[in-house]
Amino acid sequence: MSDGFSLSDALTTNNNPTPCAPPPQGWPSWGNQPPAPGGFPAYPGPPGTYPGAPGAYPGAPGPYPGAPGPYPGGPAGQGPYPGAPGAPAGPGPYPAPGQPPSGPGFGPPPSQGGPAPPMKVPFELPLQAGLAPRMLITITGTVNPNPNRFSLDFKKGNDIAFHFNPRFKEDNRKVIVCNSIFQNNWGQEERTAPRFPFEAGKPFKLQILCEVDHFKVAVNDAHLLRYNFREKKLNEITKLCIAGDITLTSVMPTMI
Ligand code: GAL
Repeated sequence: MSDGFSLSDALTTNNNPTPCAPPPQGWPSWGNQPPAPGGFPAYPGPPGTYPGAPGAYPGAPGPYPGAPGPYPGGPAGQGPYPGAPGAPAGPGPYPAPGQPPSGPGFGPPPSQGGPAPPMKVPFELPLQAGLAPRMLITITGTVNPNPNRFSLDFKKGNDIAFHFNPRFKEDNRKVIVCNSIFQNNWGQEERTAPRFPFEAGKPFKLQILCEVDHFKVAVNDAHLLRYNFREKKLNEITKLCIAGDITLTSVMPTMI
């Protein structure tokens, strides 16, 4: 269950006193993050488990297509988070009762057991209380045919604390560019991703874990890269923008 991300690395950045627990099957080796009670959640717990987080949108329909094995903790063709108090039993108002209202762009609720409808891109996820260590954002979608690029932008006002930008045809090469922008100035690009895990027309699961001093990115359950914080005021990073040549299926913030 090791993909090169070592325990010692994680220990240097994680103050959590909880003894190391092995990650559940199928979960990328983020480090020594202990699973939440009851196993790793692909869904947030009852409202209030991660105060200020906006909830899950629009609810993954079930196991990520093409994922190796079932997505850990993921609902199998149910609603966004079965077991959540008052979760709707079927199509109905969204988000689930107890969740704050979603912003624009959230599709209608998925029908039971069926595929979730695509969400609008560009997509904006408000992060009401900003980021915090152990906040995990799981994004599923499909790369469009003949893609050029897509990007995730974690924003603090007009600044971009973390720009994650896979480019499919930069000088006929594929490259992942990470950077930040402060006061309209891009910083130095980081192009250190050891591989390019996205493919035209293929579904993907992209996970961004906010750690104490860096972001970790995993794709399809394998660690890809880390990006050290340049912006340290996590609570002021209050928006995630997703844009470019992908179709989005779900965007789910959780705490692990
Ligand atoms: C620029 C590009 C931006 C952003 C930036 C990252 O060339 O126009 O969209 O990707 O690079 O350094």
